[in-house]
Amino acid sequence: MKPDIRKLINTPLEIGGKSIPTRLILAPMSGLTHVAFRELVDRFGGCGLLYTGMCSARSVPHENSHISPVFRWRNEELSCLICQLFGSDSDVMALAAKRVEQEGFFGVDLNFGCSVAAICKKNCGAALLKIPDRAVEIVRNVRKAVSIPVTVKFRTGWEDCPKSAVELAGRFEDAGADALIFHPRVAPDRRSRPPKWEYIAQVKQAVSIPVFGNGEVFTSDDCKKMFETTGCDGIALGRIAIAKPWIFAQWADGFVADDETYRTVLKQMITLLSKHYETVAALRKFKKMAVYNAALFKYGHSFFKKIARAADFNEIEKEVDAFFATSPDLTMRPNLNLFA
Ligand SMILES: Cc1cc2nc3c(=O)[nH]c(=O)nc-3n(C[C@H](O)[C@H](O)[C@H](O)COP(=O)(O)O)c2cc1C
Repeated sequence: MKPDIRKLINTPLEIGGKSIPTRLILAPMSGLTHVAFRELVDRFGGCGLLYTGMCSARSVPHENSHISPVFRWRNEELSCLICQLFGSDSDVMALAAKRVEQEGFFGVDLNFGCSVAAICKKNCGAALLKIPDRAVEIVRNVRKAVSIPVTVKFRTGWEDCPKSAVELAGRFEDAGADALIFHPRVAPDRRSRPPKWEYIAQVKQAVSIPVFGNGEVFTSDDCKKMFETTGCDGIALGRIAIAKPWIFAQWADGFVADDETYRTVLKQMITLLSKHYETVAALRKFKKMAVYNAALFKYGHSFFKKIARAADFNEIEKEVDAFFATSPDLTMRPNLNLFA
């Protein structure tokens, strides 16, 4: 990473009166940014802010954090952890946000970006971008309910035009949002076409709260380019963080991964998943994550097939050792067929 960009990454940023140490943050990803994965990221360091996957605002007030797959954390991470909520009712969202505050999270995030049909059908996630008054009301009500930072993650909208996102960004700020994470893709487009980073610049110019850009930042050149071309205050890293949990440490602190790092993180992930989840859930979660690791390698597809077929962690460990014994070649960029 170029020294000027590293310096920028390591410049603390204020969000709603609290400071984060670096400008690279973990994007929320359901089924992926769970407590076990976040512990792994924490071990490497360099990440300014961690996010849970999206949690149902209806469930959060009654959720048992010892058994919930998603509303679960380590006390050590709470001071840099944001809980993401999805919902469609502003009172329900506010009540859930209160629980998030009581538990001691750094902040709460509102999901206005998920375009999965099951979520949108209930007027949650990106569906709220079609009813902007409701989205703004949610921000306002959550703002009133808590004093911790409130962030909003949203995307372009349902039409490929930045106008409504730019307008909404300003309305979210006026309603009390402390920072925005903006993913410049239209809602029906899950991740097939490239995100339009130029829209990030427009959102950034429309508000005075911090804006995190998000979408297909995979290499240090991408990171530099996103900072330089959009003027964003920080970057939210999604899939590349799953594939390389050390990416924050690499870009913020100069951590250098060697061949062994790729193998050992897979083993560490097994240990951490087994620590936090029962066996069947741990195995399922590992397989969900491993496809992103596999996407980094030339013959990652056949490696992943073997992982997906494995019956237990013993078999997985054998496959991991066998794959790395062949000194597999890395690709320049992740294989997007696997990086879905
Ligand atoms: C498997 C998966 C689950 C995701 N779940 C969420 C989620 O719960 N909340 C959310 O706001 N975005 C979610 N996202 C979107 C990411 O936060 C991010 O916007 C997207 O992956 C683009 O960033 P990237 O190119 O750095 O991966 C998810 C993405 C993936 C791949």
